[in-house]
Amino acid sequence: MYKIAVLPGDGIGSEVTVQAVRVLEAVGRRFKREFTFSEALVGGAAYDATGTPLPGETLDLCLSSDAILFGAAGGPKWDSLPPQLRPEAGGILSLRKELGLFANLRPVRVFPSLENASTLKPEVVAGVDLLIVRELTGGLYFGKKHRENLPDGSFRAVDTLEYTTFEIERITRVAFDLARKRRKKVTSVDKANVLESSRLWREVVTALGLEYQDVSLDHMYVDNCAMQLIKNPKQFDVLVTENMFGDILSDQASVLCGSLGMLASASIGGRTGLYEPAHGSAPDITGQQLANPIASILSGAMLLRFSLDLGEEADCIERAVTEVLDLGFRTADLMEQGKTRVNTAEMADLIIERI
Ligand code: IPM
Ligand code: MN
Repeated sequence: MYKIAVLPGDGIGSEVTVQAVRVLEAVGRRFKREFTFSEALVGGAAYDATGTPLPGETLDLCLSSDAILFGAAGGPKWDSLPPQLRPEAGGILSLRKELGLFANLRPVRVFPSLENASTLKPEVVAGVDLLIVRELTGGLYFGKKHRENLPDGSFRAVDTLEYTTFEIERITRVAFDLARKRRKKVTSVDKANVLESSRLWREVVTALGLEYQDVSLDHMYVDNCAMQLIKNPKQFDVLVTENMFGDILSDQASVLCGSLGMLASASIGGRTGLYEPAHGSAPDITGQQLANPIASILSGAMLLRFSLDLGEEADCIERAVTEVLDLGFRTADLMEQGKTRVNTAEMADLIIERI
């Protein structure tokens, strides 16, 4: 029996998560696996109900589960709260930190039937299969923050970008180990021409690379990487980078897949892995069944693969998604001429049918 904590959170988080749970239930029936799902509050939803974006019970549930399925956190309603009460810093970021989830894996794979769905040319995106390994509990997100008044009544604000050898080494190891199971190529992304933290990053990655003689390693500045990702994305296998660079590059890379609604993610490294779509709460489309549930559903597949070691079951979900897309069904974000438009729940129904 596998115990899964379900944290739908805010905005479209709850709309897509409920569908991912249905898909996991279908896989459970097909493969005779027993999953139990326990829901808990997080983010703005938790703040509204309890006054904190990460209640103790939620953290306890996460710690006593085998894996966590997360929706999204944040929304305009909570934008003016002090930082530590905001759904982002107080909710998902605290959760990542508390659980020690230092490695965020964001696979960017272009499904064959979506080669025309990107704003980029099909010949550029066809066959793209890369993995962004984003450091998730350090860097600018967690460095010292500070704001002070200046004599003229204006302000000075500071965010700090800090990394230790230890933090760099452990995320790089994750990238190298994953590259070994893929095309054996790691590109480390930094800004070593300007930032001291990046210079340390590059040194540590280079040194660790010596332990992985079978994996090729190169280094790329983040500005160049942003350009290369849309110019020639097929050059990449595994990208490893610091927290904020990874945040930005992964949204950008999602365009290769046709939509941010296709980008799943796994946050691992701690005791319990957390799986969440890379898209946010999307307040503009909340409550209309417009959201693409595939990022959440594919996050569910990653949950099976990484936390529960159920690779066959994960393959089954990925195959079902591929087939439904091949049949021409599309949510609004991916809609093109000649395809059949479906809503959030209908997309999940189709995937469940294939399973
Ligand atoms: C993501 C999101 C979060 C992040 C936000 C919601 C704090 O954008 O998972 O990429 O910046 O990490
Ligand atoms: Mn992001």
